[in-house]
Amino acid sequence: MTSPNATLQIGGQSIELPTLRGSLGPDVIDTRALGSQGYFTYDPGFLSTASCSSSITYIDGDQGLLYYRGYPIEQIAEGSDFLETAYLLWNGELPNVEQKQEFDALVSQHTMLHDQMLSLYKGFRRDAHPMAVMVSIIGAMAAFYPESGDVADAKQREISMFRLLAKVPTVAAWSYKYNKGEPFIYPQNHMGYAENFLYMLHATPCEDYQPSPVLARALDRIFILHADHEQNASTSTVRMAGSSYANPFACIAAGTACLWGPLHGGANASVLAMLAEMGDVSRIGEYVNRAKDKTSGFRLMGFGHRVYKNMDPRAAIMRQTCYEVLDELGLHDDPLFKMALKLEQIALEDDYFIKKKLYPNVDFYSGIVLRALGIPTSMFTAIFALARTAGWIAQWNEMIVSPGHKIARPRQLYTGPQRRDFVPVSAR
Ligand code: SDX
Repeated sequence: MTSPNATLQIGGQSIELPTLRGSLGPDVIDTRALGSQGYFTYDPGFLSTASCSSSITYIDGDQGLLYYRGYPIEQIAEGSDFLETAYLLWNGELPNVEQKQEFDALVSQHTMLHDQMLSLYKGFRRDAHPMAVMVSIIGAMAAFYPESGDVADAKQREISMFRLLAKVPTVAAWSYKYNKGEPFIYPQNHMGYAENFLYMLHATPCEDYQPSPVLARALDRIFILHADHEQNASTSTVRMAGSSYANPFACIAAGTACLWGPLHGGANASVLAMLAEMGDVSRIGEYVNRAKDKTSGFRLMGFGHRVYKNMDPRAAIMRQTCYEVLDELGLHDDPLFKMALKLEQIALEDDYFIKKKLYPNVDFYSGIVLRALGIPTSMFTAIFALARTAGWIAQWNEMIVSPGHKIARPRQLYTGPQRRDFVPVSAR
């Protein structure tokens, strides 16, 4: 859909640029023709740049809205489950009963890793960070499933998508077991997706272990909340890697690496570390003041967002999940949760945070819930990556099948030296 043209006046030159209108959100100015007129746009960090068109996820940062294929996240989190959400993100529509059963059954048939991948784990030190292991093992899948790496073949793309979605919980759980020095626990195909992950994380060969249905449901909801989020840094990384027609395993490994950063998916672990360091509600003011002091270099982890200038809708659902999980576990007096609630209240009443529109984001409460679920801090980002794999795959596939596909190749503003002649070292 198009809307009125934009006219760019540069000196005496006037350049007409078409604008495009999506189904929701702001119009975009189509600047593709600018290069042939001798200009580039300049937008490091992509604050005002739409890198693609997509029909998967819509975010309205001012209203605090998040839609998966048009469905509000609140309704999906309440009424759906993670595999059904993955189906929706991939296919654009919610499945009927037969489609859901077939999808879930297909995922359950691909949960095991190739047996030789066990030796890959043994190459790591026992204290290897789970994200380092996940990046490596997911990338290594390309060596174990070379027959499904041809992105031009729809059948190969589909089998790779299922292999990735089905195997990442096993990859993640085994990285935790390896850290603990416990034997790997194989997936149980009769279990639900989140239930199976909790089982592989906490079961041992020595006794029966049945994950709590309430905690499995809470974890499944956490997976839903993290499944996709438009063109965030890691999704953009997956698209960038995929634009060269790299195989899907390499692309998801690239996205996993990007998510690891503390400004992105690593924030949930940093929130817990910050709360633990704070230690007591009496020190909240000190940390809020540090976050407001530019010279401190300190950020209030779990606050702020590039897009949300209102409450991240996922944070509100995560807070509710926190209450439910802590109640289920009889931990309603959990000191970290009480401190988080107090910190949120103080920050939201503070002029600095109000003026800069800094609200709690999805990471603010997720760490507290995951900790209550018995998941170690080192696994928080691995769980984020596990869930986001559903969205990464959907976005990757949408890009691969999009008409007029081009390899991503941004330009730059060059600020280096002018042309100069080489001087041999003897003359320098
Ligand atoms: C995720 O993009 C996504 O969708 C990501 C994500 C997803 O689902 O994929 O939602 C997941 O990554 C959530 C964000 C988790 N990260 C954190 O919680 C880390 C703490 N937050 C930030 O560092 C920051 O808010 C970002 C990285 C999230 C956003 O950074 P931006 O958009 O580049 O904004 P900015 O750094 O330019 O900040 C704008 C202003 C700055 O002040 P000025 O220079 O304008 O004076 O706000 C200040 C910042 O100093 N600011 C903060 C702050 N976040 C921003 N000040 C104190 N504490 C903070 N947390």
